[in-house]
Amino acid sequence: MDTAIDEISDGIYRLSTYAPQVAPPAGLTYNVFLVRGDEPLLFHTGKRGMFPAVSSALARLLPLERLRWIAFGHYESDECGAMNEFLAAAPNAEVTHGRTACRVTLSDMALRAPRPLADGEVIDLGGGRCVRYIDTPHIPHGWEAGVLYEEGSGTLFCGDLFTQTGNAPALTSDDIVGPALAAEDLFGFSSLHPSTGRTIRRLGTLEPRMLALMHGPAFTGDTGAALHALGDEYDRRIRTALDSD
Ligand SMILES: [Fe+2]
Ligand SMILES: [Fe+2]
Repeated sequence: MDTAIDEISDGIYRLSTYAPQVAPPAGLTYNVFLVRGDEPLLFHTGKRGMFPAVSSALARLLPLERLRWIAFGHYESDECGAMNEFLAAAPNAEVTHGRTACRVTLSDMALRAPRPLADGEVIDLGGGRCVRYIDTPHIPHGWEAGVLYEEGSGTLFCGDLFTQTGNAPALTSDDIVGPALAAEDLFGFSSLHPSTGRTIRRLGTLEPRMLALMHGPAFTGDTGAALHALGDEYDRRIRTALDSD
């Protein structure tokens, strides 16, 4: 298992592990992101079984002891399966997440106490990097779900939103909505909740310059249009499902 490293923005790295055995024949990519700064932050850890590949890739970018924050969108093995392995390898690191994740799950499951964040709370990483935590309950799944927005670069770490299959390039400005809907048809991974469309469209008000997908490329095209199109399509699917009852 190999983990590729790409710098997708100044000081922001995409550590990408491709798993051809997942959803064949296209396979699935699992991305972990490093935000450099005086207090380096990791977004996602990858699965526990990916820890050797991901941690050795990370060690090429910084000594693990320097890692200060471990964040992720929701509690699931690809998002945080290696959380405790990273906490053990990085004694100065803390897990941070929204209050729901910390209260419900992480206060029990993490080796060290997590740092809870309120909706909209910012951690200043130093070096011009600031990450804002945004609650997105149930979106795309899990009541503890949230996303992270790095304000200096305008990068929205949007986790499983826009998930697509395949081994995408690190950066793209091609359409990401069509491939995301194809993956939704394949996996059915999203919660069709009354707030789904609104929550996704609201992320567009951040006017991100980049959407960093966990399973796919980092998108540098019209992010607002993509978020609106995805939110609208989920709303359409919800109405269709309700109307069919
Ligand atoms: Fe997930
Ligand atoms: Fe994921």
